Amino acid sequence: MASAPRRPLVAGNWKMNGLSGSAAELARIIAGTHDLTAVDLVVCPPATLLAQFAAAARGSAVRIGGQDCHAEPAGAFTGDISAEMLKDAGASAVIVGHSERRSGHGETDADVRAKVLAARRAGLLAIVCIGESRADRKAGQALAVVGAQLDGSLPDGASAADLIVAYEPLWAIGSGLTPTPDDVAEMHGLIRQRLAARFGTAGQGMRILYGGSVKPSNAAELMHVADVDGALVGGASLKAGELLSIAGVYRQPPVHSD
Ligand code: 13P
Repeated sequence: MASAPRRPLVAGNWKMNGLSGSAAELARIIAGTHDLTAVDLVVCPPATLLAQFAAAARGSAVRIGGQDCHAEPAGAFTGDISAEMLKDAGASAVIVGHSERRSGHGETDADVRAKVLAARRAGLLAIVCIGESRADRKAGQALAVVGAQLDGSLPDGASAADLIVAYEPLWAIGSGLTPTPDDVAEMHGLIRQRLAARFGTAGQGMRILYGGSVKPSNAAELMHVADVDGALVGGASLKAGELLSIAGVYRQPPVHSD
């Protein structure tokens, strides 16, 4: 049986950028979504802006997400934010296992898996990041490393409605470098195979995003690769025009009635 087509999704990860004045940028993003009916758009601002952005985006086509969550719903975890708190602030998604969390905060695949379960518990869509280092790729280990991260970071029982995978090669993040379309196709093909083998039809339906130096100039080439279902965008997502232009890859041609 053919699985349902996957609806593309473009998510902007603002990382540690944005102050209250950035609401104007969000307003520009929202204003530009009227003809983007074939793509889901998510903006993940810093936690300080979540509630403000969620309120501003209510009723629009833009969904708001967090950038990380703690595995526990509440407790003595100074500085952390739970999935339930993100939900309460108006988020509907959360990025987990970003390489900057894995490398800067020592997060393991097991930690990431626990966070995915927390997202599910709170009713948030989890955007789970995986990706190899430059050394892994040079050593011919990219597929093995990413495959192991995928196996370790996803919990059993995941569904296409509650989980998205984002392949972000570490060496492509913020560097202006991107893998070739052939390399992206190879990696996304491997991820798809493993998702389908583990989760069956649900795995066929899970979206796989590419992330790492996605810009308006390379978005079409990257997004048209087989098994690429959208993008996780860092730097370029801070500018409404660039994020909208990337999402515009999925703009449907106007329908003419004659
Ligand atoms: P850049 O788009 O700035 O390379 O960042 C990618 C990223 O890390 C998104 O999560």
